Amino acid sequence: ASGCKIGPSILNSDLASLGAECLRMLDSGADYLHLDVMDGHFVPNITFGHPVVESLRKQLGQDPFFDMHMMVSRPEQWVKPMAVAGANQYTFHLEATENPGALIKDIRENGMKVGLAIKPGTTVEYLAPWANQIDMALVMTVEPGFGGQKFLEDMMPKVHWLRTQFPALDIEVDGGVGPDTIHKCAEAGANMIVSGSAIMRSEDPRSVINLLRNVCSE
Ligand code: DX5
Ligand code: ZN
Repeated sequence: ASGCKIGPSILNSDLASLGAECLRMLDSGADYLHLDVMDGHFVPNITFGHPVVESLRKQLGQDPFFDMHMMVSRPEQWVKPMAVAGANQYTFHLEATENPGALIKDIRENGMKVGLAIKPGTTVEYLAPWANQIDMALVMTVEPGFGGQKFLEDMMPKVHWLRTQFPALDIEVDGGVGPDTIHKCAEAGANMIVSGSAIMRSEDPRSVINLLRNVCSE
């Protein structure tokens, strides 16, 4: 895909130094930040919520783009708080809501871009009816909840199908994406690339980010 963007996931960073870790990623050439919100209910893990996002916005300034990956059971509840805290995009899970249309509308009214995510077990046909109303589709390439898991290659047909049906849609992949798996994501048509441990564990995050972007944009 042309013009691929790389969004490091800071989930596996030193969370006690979250602001510094985000800055390190931005200084290393990150195009945006992918911020993983978990509520211990939709997924078996807890991370942080809108108060932390508000602090990050204050520390990092207005420029960095915050893509909020909302792994929560009640995505309706956090739209306004996240908008006020300074989120740019609100990516919710299709599995977590009964009324995606109302949620999409609310996110827009609160001035954010709309991302719609599906778990590995959800078929892409469920996402399709909403594709013309959203900015980005997130195809999860691991079961949400933890960083550092193995990339699920059999999610690539979902990405490919979406790319074929909706040529202009931003398509994000998230989970197990790094130098070893980026080729497959690029081939399938993803153009927004989340990568956590592959970037975080590297001693040279800038070169990993550049590599991911270059391979993806080929
Ligand atoms: C998983 C999160 C991902 C994760 C990615 O539930 O949504 O964003 O942190 O980390 P890696 O790249 O290590 O799989
Ligand atoms: Zn994520």
